[in-house]
Amino acid sequence: MSGAGRRRVVVPVSGGGSNLQALIDAAGAPKCPFEIVAVISNRPGVRALQRAAAAGIPATVIDHTGFADRETFDAALSDAIAGFQPDYVALAGFMRVLTAGFTERWNGRLINIHPALLPSFTGLHTHRRALEAGVAVHGCTVHWVSAGVDEGAIIGQGAVPVLPGDTEDSLAARVLAMEHRLYPACLTALCTGTPALPLAMLGQAG
Ligand code: GRF
Repeated sequence: MSGAGRRRVVVPVSGGGSNLQALIDAAGAPKCPFEIVAVISNRPGVRALQRAAAAGIPATVIDHTGFADRETFDAALSDAIAGFQPDYVALAGFMRVLTAGFTERWNGRLINIHPALLPSFTGLHTHRRALEAGVAVHGCTVHWVSAGVDEGAIIGQGAVPVLPGDTEDSLAARVLAMEHRLYPACLTALCTGTPALPLAMLGQAG
């Protein structure tokens, strides 16, 4: 798809940015229906910013520690995002709870990837909790973002097995590899108006 026809995606990040990288890599394909037009980090110096720079994508830091409260930070973030006129805002490891004012402003355009099969394991430490619960299948979810944390409607999911001997780290790595497949697939599905097919890596190590 030509650059002019692609959906514009802004990616807020907080850290390593491996999901950002997966989106950047997908957008490099000639027929990809989206382009990453900006990356915004709430933390300076994170690897995600280097990834954006390496790909020639405008990267901005809006350091949340410089704001008095969530409302003023979210307003600044919102205005910065709006400046890039996005069709979608794809949170990728963005580790801030967003205010209702923010989620309402971006309602219908704001998506997130969560490292669990929602509605199980909302919040943090999902892999540890999955191991403690003894589930045999774990994974990740791309969902619309609403005012309730990790509560928006599901767009797509990717499943991975929990294997004997798994640790939090080994399970996290398996889920992260699935995240890198799922996020571009779901964003592509949204941009093309097609359903996001479930992905699975079951009954095998990986
Ligand atoms: C991912 O597991 C994502 O699902 C979670 O935070 C992690 C971010 O990883 N919200 P990265 O920054 O994309 O590498």
